[in-house]
Amino acid sequence: MKNQRLRMLKRYLRAAIYYGPTRVLGSLLRPTSLAAHLRRLIREDSRPAMNLYPPSFSREDEERFCGDLLGIPLERVREAFKEIDGDFTFSGFLAERYRRFRPDSPVGLHLGRFSVWYVLVRLSRPRVVLETGVHDGLSSALILHAMRRNGSGRLISIDLPSVDLPPQAEGPGWLVEDGLRPRWTLHLGDVRKLLPRLALENSPLDIFLHDSDHSREVQEFEYRTVLPHLGPHGLLVSDDAQADLINEIAGELSLRANFAMGAEPLARFALGGIRLAGGPQGKTRSR
Ligand SMILES: C[S@@+](CC[C@H](N)C(=O)[O-])C[C@H]1O[C@@H](n2cnc3c(N)ncnc32)[C@H](O)[C@@H]1O
Repeated sequence: MKNQRLRMLKRYLRAAIYYGPTRVLGSLLRPTSLAAHLRRLIREDSRPAMNLYPPSFSREDEERFCGDLLGIPLERVREAFKEIDGDFTFSGFLAERYRRFRPDSPVGLHLGRFSVWYVLVRLSRPRVVLETGVHDGLSSALILHAMRRNGSGRLISIDLPSVDLPPQAEGPGWLVEDGLRPRWTLHLGDVRKLLPRLALENSPLDIFLHDSDHSREVQEFEYRTVLPHLGPHGLLVSDDAQADLINEIAGELSLRANFAMGAEPLARFALGGIRLAGGPQGKTRSR
């Protein structure tokens, strides 16, 4: 990846501003993480990426994002956020597991902005969700937990087989508890290879969530691949969204794009989304 080195440097700077330089340096200078970070900086190896789950940066923005996207009143959105915020059994299990598996993380696990995925699933009650990018598995766990509460739905996820996972982890999604797994199918491989087949096989999709390689090229490939397979009121949502791309696609469909601020103060947008209006998606280009 061409800009990997620059992006890493920016990320360290952002983290230092957000968490404080001492905390970030303390985490980087541990022997295990130092080697991984040097590999990324010197060899531009993008695999050993530590994923942090920081607190939400703007809950207000997240509420508005969900309300606008689903076209429902903020009171209902707030109720759903309240439900997950107060679910200490669920969040406590994840936080404890994260602490044990990732003792070198500079920050403990927060559901943070990913609570949005829980809220969207609770309120839209999807039958099928397709997700790219699992890593530790917080997004998958939240989606599956919402489905358990709904009593319906299944999740199909894609991730690469090799990422920077803790040594004890069996693979991506190690945060997901056993009780949530019956609704889940995890496919290991590159999205460019797997996504076209999985989108077709599981069509119509109620929600597509992008959270894999955030480059414009891969995001565009994913969005244009899944759009023809989204159901009439399907949601296309993304973490670390490329805002211009989401706007471009929404414009082609004569729809409105929605965004919410992320966890990082320097990020202008982190969450992006479009909700289809009910008609066929004939206006989108396919690649
Ligand atoms: C930001 S993390 C996903 C975070 C995840 N949603 C969570 O809740 O922890 C990005 C993930 O995308 C995966 N990824 C990156 N490029 C990919 C590709 N081309 N195909 C499949 N997965 C990819 C990485 O392996 C990594 O686990």
